[in-house]
Amino acid sequence: MDVRTAIEKRRAYRALEGFEATDDIVAELAAAARLTASCFNNQPWRFVFVTGTDILGRMHEALSRGNEWARKASMIIAAFGKKDDDCLIKEREYYLFDIGMAVSAIVLRATEMGLVAHPIAGYSPSKAKEILGIPDDRMLITLVIVGKKSENLEGLSDQQKSAEKERPARRDPAAIHSIDRYDPRLG
Ligand SMILES: Cc1cc2nc3c(=O)[nH]c(=O)nc-3n(C[C@H](O)[C@H](O)[C@H](O)COP(=O)(O)O)c2cc1C
Repeated sequence: MDVRTAIEKRRAYRALEGFEATDDIVAELAAAARLTASCFNNQPWRFVFVTGTDILGRMHEALSRGNEWARKASMIIAAFGKKDDDCLIKEREYYLFDIGMAVSAIVLRATEMGLVAHPIAGYSPSKAKEILGIPDDRMLITLVIVGKKSENLEGLSDQQKSAEKERPARRDPAAIHSIDRYDPRLG
């Protein structure tokens, strides 16, 4: 699959079914993150790949209301890091940016492998960190919910059902980029 196709095929689907979350899949996804660019090659990303049935079950306690769909996942990737592990240039804290880029590589590689990889912000970081044993001073930036796309929309809200069928609308191109000079339409 070429990059353009992976970008177009990637969707934050919520109707999921399980798959066999093997060590090979973990290794493939971790390898995609590992090659990501980072400020000064600091590589601030850290991940816990959750694949064990019991621990996946415990992670359900950490999900926010509205993210019950994530219970069908066979893998949850906790992406976390520390501010001091990456460039701090005045107010620019690059760890969030670099970990985001690594997560994006994981998501696109998962898409290429025929999986749905859906990052979420709706969870209790303190509960998730406690369950996974991640130290308190780490920022748990996202949980990436990984499953196979399902056609069964049971349990989804109307809005979530409609997002399965059609990609949520995007801003106009002119509202997100300009050429050579800032354009007030960028807001
Ligand atoms: C940082 C981040 C946090 C998100 N949090 C949630 C979430 O908690 N629950 C959820 O259902 N979707 C969540 N999403 C998915 C977005 O709603 C989704 O990406 C957006 O609606 C665009 O849809 P698309 O990715 O299918 O194009 C999140 C996405 C990102 C990148």
